[in-house]
Amino acid sequence: MSSIPSQRKRRTRIALLPATALLLVGGAVIVQSTTPAVAAETTLRAAAANAGLFFGVAASPGRLSSIVGQEFNQLTPENDMKPSTIATSTGALQNTGNADTLVNYAQSNNMVVRGHTMVWHSQAGSLQGASQATLNTFIGNALTRWGNRIAYWDVVNEALADNNTGARRTQWPHTLNRDANGDGDFFDATDTDVIRDSFIRAKQVVQQNNLSTKLCINDYDIEGLTVQGGTANRKANAMYDIVRTYRQYIDCVGFQAHFNDNPNSIITGDLQANIQRFADLGVEVHLTELDIDDDLSNNDIGQGQADNYRKVVRACLNVARCTGITVWGIADSESWRSSERGLLFTGGNGSYQRKAAYTAVLDELNKGRNVSPTSPPGSPTSPPVSPSVPPSPTVSPTPPQPPAGCSASVSLNSWNGGFVATVRVTAGSAPINGWSVGLTLPSGATVSNSWNTTASGTSGAVRFTNVSHNGRVAAGQSTEFGFQGTGTATGITPTCTAS
Ligand code: XIL
Repeated sequence: MSSIPSQRKRRTRIALLPATALLLVGGAVIVQSTTPAVAAETTLRAAAANAGLFFGVAASPGRLSSIVGQEFNQLTPENDMKPSTIATSTGALQNTGNADTLVNYAQSNNMVVRGHTMVWHSQAGSLQGASQATLNTFIGNALTRWGNRIAYWDVVNEALADNNTGARRTQWPHTLNRDANGDGDFFDATDTDVIRDSFIRAKQVVQQNNLSTKLCINDYDIEGLTVQGGTANRKANAMYDIVRTYRQYIDCVGFQAHFNDNPNSIITGDLQANIQRFADLGVEVHLTELDIDDDLSNNDIGQGQADNYRKVVRACLNVARCTGITVWGIADSESWRSSERGLLFTGGNGSYQRKAAYTAVLDELNKGRNVSPTSPPGSPTSPPVSPSVPPSPTVSPTPPQPPAGCSASVSLNSWNGGFVATVRVTAGSAPINGWSVGLTLPSGATVSNSWNTTASGTSGAVRFTNVSHNGRVAAGQSTEFGFQGTGTATGITPTCTAS
C-alpha cells in the first residue's frame, strides 16, 4: 500500500491559470490567453490532463502500488517489453506475462501505454545479431500482440552514437546498415538503413491492422540544440535529419531526458527551441525517461533539482505538440541510477514521500500551457520533406477506385481528460485542390490546438481546412492533420468536402 498522506487532503488553493483559446483572424490562428479562476489539481495526472498532455512513469509489476494509478496516466514497462524479455531468436514472442500485467493495470487505471522497445543494441537477448527479416517478424508480433492497447511504441531506441559525433552506432543492429554510395549517410535509395526498414515494417503492420498505435524513435542526449559550452548538439541534429527524412513512417520522437553532469546531458536553455523544431516537423514530442541528477550544475539538493524539473516541464508545456512526459521510476531508491536521486519521490516499497521536485512539477503543470501567439501549433516552418527513398509499395496501397471527392478517417489517442486526434484525408478517384473536414465533438470536449490545418470552432461542430502545403492531394493519395483536445472525443465521425 502506498502512503501518501497529502493525497487524501484535497488542496483548496485557487490559482489564476492562463487558458488558451483559438481564434481565427484573417485565416491565421491566434492563441488568446484568458485568466479564469481554476482550482489547482492535486495529482500529476489530473494537472497534466488539464494542460493536454500525459504524465507517465516507468514501472515493473512489482512496483504497481496505488500511487501509480493515482499520480500517473501513462505507463512504460521499464524492462518487461524489451527483446531480452519477450523475443525469441526467431522474432516470436515469449514471456509476455509481466508485459500483460502492466498493460492490464494501465487499462484499468485509464493510463496509456508506451511499448518499450523493439530495435535496440542493448538488452536484445536472443534477438541479438538477428537479420532485418527477423527484426521485422518481431516488430509485427509485438505490434499485433497488444494492438491499440499500446498507444505509442518505441520502434527504434538509441540508434545514435555517444560523444556528440552525430554518427550512427556501429554495433548490431546498425551493422545491418550499408552506405552504398559512400556519401556518409544511409538515406539513399540504394543504402540499407535499419531505422528506415524497421519503421517501414512497423508502419505497414499498423496500416494492415488498422491500428492507431503511434510509432516513435527514442534517444538520449538529443534534448538541447546545444550541449555544454554552446557547441552544436550534433546528435540532436542527426536525429532531426532522421525524423525529417522518414517523417512518413515516424509519428513521434522521444527525448529520454536523463539529465546529469555529463557535458552532453545537461539542461540547456534551448531545450524548448529544440522540442519546437521537432514539433514543427509534425511529430509528437515526448520526454520519455525523465530523471534529473540532484546535483546537476552544482545545484543544491532540494530546491535546485526542483527548479530544474520546473524548467524542463515548462519547456514541454510551451510547445503544443509536446504531448507527454514520463519519469523513469517512482522513487529515488528504486531508480536505475539511485545514486543520482533524480526522481520525484523518496521512500520505496510502496511507501513514498513527495520531494520538492514533485511540488514544483505539479505547480508547473497546474499553470498550464503558454503557447506563444507568434508560433501557433501546427505551422510547420516548411512542408514535410519527402524522403529520398521510394515508399514501400505495401505501406501505401492504392485503394480500388473510390468515388471522386474525399473521405476522412480519424485515429484517437486518448487519456483521462484529453486526446490527440489524427485525421487522414484521402482523395477519391480524382485529384483535389483543397479540403475541408467537419465533425461534431461530444459535449464537454474542446479543441486546444491543431496542426497542418486551419481550425474553426473549438467545441460542438468544428471545421478543419487545409493549409497551403497540403491542399492538393493526388487521386487515391492521403494527407494528415491533427488536433489536440480536452475531454473525450470517442465516436467522432469526420466528413470530408473537396474543392
Ligand atoms: C534501464 C532500466 O531502467 C534498468 O532497470 C535496466 O537494468 C537497464 O535499462 N535508456 C533506455 C531504458 O531506453 O530502457 C533504460 O532502462 C535506461 C536508458
